Amino acid sequence: MLLHFFLASFVFLSSVKDGSARITSSFVRSEYPSADIPLDHEAFAVPKGYNAPQQVHISQGDYDGKAVIISWVTTDEPGSCKVQYGTSENKLQDSADGSFTNYTFYQYKSGFIHQCLIEDLEYDTKYYYRIGSGDSSRDFWFKTPPKVGPDAPYKFGIIGDLGQTFNSLSTLDHYIESGAETVLFVGDLSYADRYQYNDVGQRWDTWGRFVEKSTAYQPWIWSAGNHEIDYMPYMGEVVPFRNFLNRFPTPYLASKSSNPLWYAIRRASAHIIVISSYSPFVKYTPQWTWLKDELKRVDREKTPWLIVLMHVPLYNSNEAHYMEGESMRAAFESWFIDHKVDVIFAGHVHAYERSYRYSNVDYNITSGHRYPVPDKSAPIYITVGDGGNQEGLASRFTEPQPQYSAFREASYGHSTLEIMNRTHAVYHWNRNDDGKKVKTDSFVLHNQYWGSHRRRKLNKHLLVRLFDADTITTI
Ligand SMILES: *[C@@H]1O[C@H](CO)[C@@H](O)[C@H](O)[C@H]1NC(C)=O
Ligand SMILES: *[C@@H]1O[C@H](CO)[C@@H](O)[C@H](O)[C@H]1NC(C)=O
Ligand SMILES: *[C@@H]1O[C@H](CO)[C@@H](O)[C@H](O)[C@H]1NC(C)=O
Ligand SMILES: [Fe+2]
Repeated sequence: MLLHFFLASFVFLSSVKDGSARITSSFVRSEYPSADIPLDHEAFAVPKGYNAPQQVHISQGDYDGKAVIISWVTTDEPGSCKVQYGTSENKLQDSADGSFTNYTFYQYKSGFIHQCLIEDLEYDTKYYYRIGSGDSSRDFWFKTPPKVGPDAPYKFGIIGDLGQTFNSLSTLDHYIESGAETVLFVGDLSYADRYQYNDVGQRWDTWGRFVEKSTAYQPWIWSAGNHEIDYMPYMGEVVPFRNFLNRFPTPYLASKSSNPLWYAIRRASAHIIVISSYSPFVKYTPQWTWLKDELKRVDREKTPWLIVLMHVPLYNSNEAHYMEGESMRAAFESWFIDHKVDVIFAGHVHAYERSYRYSNVDYNITSGHRYPVPDKSAPIYITVGDGGNQEGLASRFTEPQPQYSAFREASYGHSTLEIMNRTHAVYHWNRNDDGKKVKTDSFVLHNQYWGSHRRRKLNKHLLVRLFDADTITTI
């Protein structure tokens, strides 16, 4: 299996003079129109029945993966906040009670947004659950992760900037086929803020129904992007993140965070840290203090894989959003290196890009030192802002391709990261090729804590490996 993917043949090398291959893919897709799916399309179908639950989505509900937060919307009346659940499809012997909220956004009135935490679950177990009542109740299921531990295998998906177009639908369908068990979502969910007045709330609702076929069955780990801010003073809406925070709960208290926009979870063998590009993060702010403390809580003996999610990439050689990540890079990059973060996923730029291990922590405004340099302790930076939203692709990359940039392509797609054990994880980026899924960029990620002695240096042999179909690139 692993033998079959390699960097595709339509790429060209932009420069190899320093020994590291850098690739700007020249693939050009013939785009689907990037307009949003019409409201009456079946992708947004409202479930049948009086007050039937809709927009069902789950997220991890605690630090270690033994709890799940279930959220859904009813539109006719608040209805029951109860979730019935159990390990057998025919016998849902347990139940938990939640709560609901509703809010207005301009004159739009939300449905009744329910939230229910179910706790003390067994690890590595399939649970069935039922919400709603009578004829309009609906049944779903999810699987809990294995117990947190150093060799617990797990397959994550990574999706960003999804939106609700036909390209978004293609990304979602391809993701569902991938067999991954949890989505690490790197921000920009619905793009409802492309609308005005009451249509904003309505497009948050359609998005909730759109993603339900995945989000009802597996946790999506949310991080917030600029399209979650919804700052719309012309219609009197000035409190940031209101739609997002009312709809997408996160388990922030479990990681001692004071804000749902930044938090951490542990799942299988991974410690996942979510930070907010659009909340204060400079020195002494709550997010800065929290991140400093959370990094100290990471125990690589228990969770070898340290993954950070954010919306704005710190390394981005696309003309779109160029250097927007600089302020956060200046604040946090040295911590990510000191703590040997394995990989940082970001979105925002509507294209795909992967870096080599580079850092710019020696940047010095006085001495003039200003170049990113190869750094074995640095994370790999991967931008997957390519979910397929209505803003279209960011197809202009800066030239020449910078040294830190390993692979870049302006296409839609999603990624998967399959953790095999404490030392190895297999990564794929899968392009949507107008409806087909094509594995395009793949490599084996060696763990930064457990695998450093095995790590191969990037050198001229990489070039050979890239084009040898019997081998897979290793990083
Ligand atoms: C919440 O729903 C109730 C019942 O329909 C309604 O009376 C109330 O105005 C709603 N609150 C908000 C903030 O929309
Ligand atoms: C930055 O450069 C100046 C001038 O060369 C030097 O004095 C200073 O120690 C440097 N700062 C750091 C943090 O390396
Ligand atoms: C981890 O998995 C890789 C790939 O399957 C394998 O080659 C390696 O020996 C495994 N390492 C350990 C410590 O089990
Ligand atoms: Fe964005």
